[in-house]
Amino acid sequence: MSDALVTAAPIGAPIGAPRPTVYIETYGCQMNVADSELMYGKLVASGYDAVDVPDGADVILVNTCAIRENAETRVIGRLGELKKFMRPGSVMGVTGCMAQRLGPRVLEQARHVSIVVGPDGYRALPELLDGARRGEKFTATDFDLEEHYEDVVARRFEGVKAWIPVQRGCDYRCTYCIVPTTRGPERSRKLHEVVREVHEVVNQGLTEVVLLGQTVNSYNDGTHDFADLLRAVGAVDGIRRVRYTSPHPNDFSDRVIAAMAEVPTVCGHIHLPMQSGSTSMLKKMLRRYSREDYLACVERMRAAIPGLALTTDIIVGFPSETDEEFADTLSLCQEVRFDDAFMFKFSPREGTPATRMPAEWTIPDDIVATRFELLLKTVRGISRENNMRRLGDTVEVLIEKVARDGELLQARSRDFKTIMVPADAGAIGDYLTVKLSGTTGATFMGTPVVEQTERKPLPMMAG
Ligand code: 5AD
Ligand code: SF4
Repeated sequence: MSDALVTAAPIGAPIGAPRPTVYIETYGCQMNVADSELMYGKLVASGYDAVDVPDGADVILVNTCAIRENAETRVIGRLGELKKFMRPGSVMGVTGCMAQRLGPRVLEQARHVSIVVGPDGYRALPELLDGARRGEKFTATDFDLEEHYEDVVARRFEGVKAWIPVQRGCDYRCTYCIVPTTRGPERSRKLHEVVREVHEVVNQGLTEVVLLGQTVNSYNDGTHDFADLLRAVGAVDGIRRVRYTSPHPNDFSDRVIAAMAEVPTVCGHIHLPMQSGSTSMLKKMLRRYSREDYLACVERMRAAIPGLALTTDIIVGFPSETDEEFADTLSLCQEVRFDDAFMFKFSPREGTPATRMPAEWTIPDDIVATRFELLLKTVRGISRENNMRRLGDTVEVLIEKVARDGELLQARSRDFKTIMVPADAGAIGDYLTVKLSGTTGATFMGTPVVEQTERKPLPMMAG
């Protein structure tokens, strides 16, 4: 990150005028976090100062998620709250998936919002904001299949790891999912561009990268597949941990599994969305695999990668889900023994095929709630049993941040376990070897067993 970028004059601002400030609030997935870092990068390069509170900011952007209804409801509420931080001359914008989905409807629902910009429109933000500050209103929701923001230097906020989008959009058409509508068709960045960014990240002092895509393992830049990408990124000098999220079970070629197994920097953890354990449900979801296919995928991966940790996503109450079909989800959880899972109640999204299914297929809220509780109990129980068995193990952790209690530090093992470590905040960014000395069932306590192995400088956090 060069100082020259940080000191550029604001577009359209009189010479000598103070730099306008921008605050971005982010909702949703890591792709949105990465996009917010790009937006900050673009705006700082255009003369803005980034601020971390909305109070009095010249520009407030809310980067939104549309995956479930409650994500959108929350944002609508938040737009109202943020209004009170605006002062005369401030402008507010809505970006991300909800902006793409609702377009000008956002301007009608929240009159104090001036710009609505979808995920492929962030390059134009400085000009759109200039217009907004002159009192104009804009909606920019065209897809741009060439847009990877290659020349924009992300302004990273995460202290120890870098989110790196390698693919945008999605070509699957899971019947419940709004993402193909909000993020458009799948396209991959060129491998050499990703590797260039990974080198930059290392130069900023980071040692872990998380490669991002909606179906990241279907990555293909026309010449290279995901296996090539893992090998290339994993070989970058200075990188100690490579992760990726989220893959699709159908895109785990033998080449990808071999790359995972053979590249030492690639971490032994896969987040493998399952959605349901019932083949008939999976068919209605258009997931394009059966229960048996999913299990076979897990077995191939476990055979190749000893000690592999697996986490997943599960949807409860998809239209027409019977008790038996839900029981199949529980039993697949028992069979795979996931380390953890994100569980969701089905949320109908306007325009998706699931909303056109017969009305009588809708599962009543009380049944969904009962199933959800049962699933939660099952997943947590398995996770606790897995974790209890790990007590006494010695693992390498990367210290990420101060834990919520404000005293311990929060770290991650290579297999993505959360471990609380008693250490000084100066240890953030360090790799330590710890013994797993206790567990709540979900997270661990770790006792350092050797002196820290290496100290990495923190990345520059300018502005
Ligand atoms: N309702 C509930 N959960 C959903 N997901 C995606 N769309 C929906 C929906 N309409 C979940 C899936 C996906 C995760 C990111 O969000 O489990 O993997
Ligand atoms: Fe949505 Fe399915 Fe694409 Fe994932 S693979 S983003 S769930 S459509």
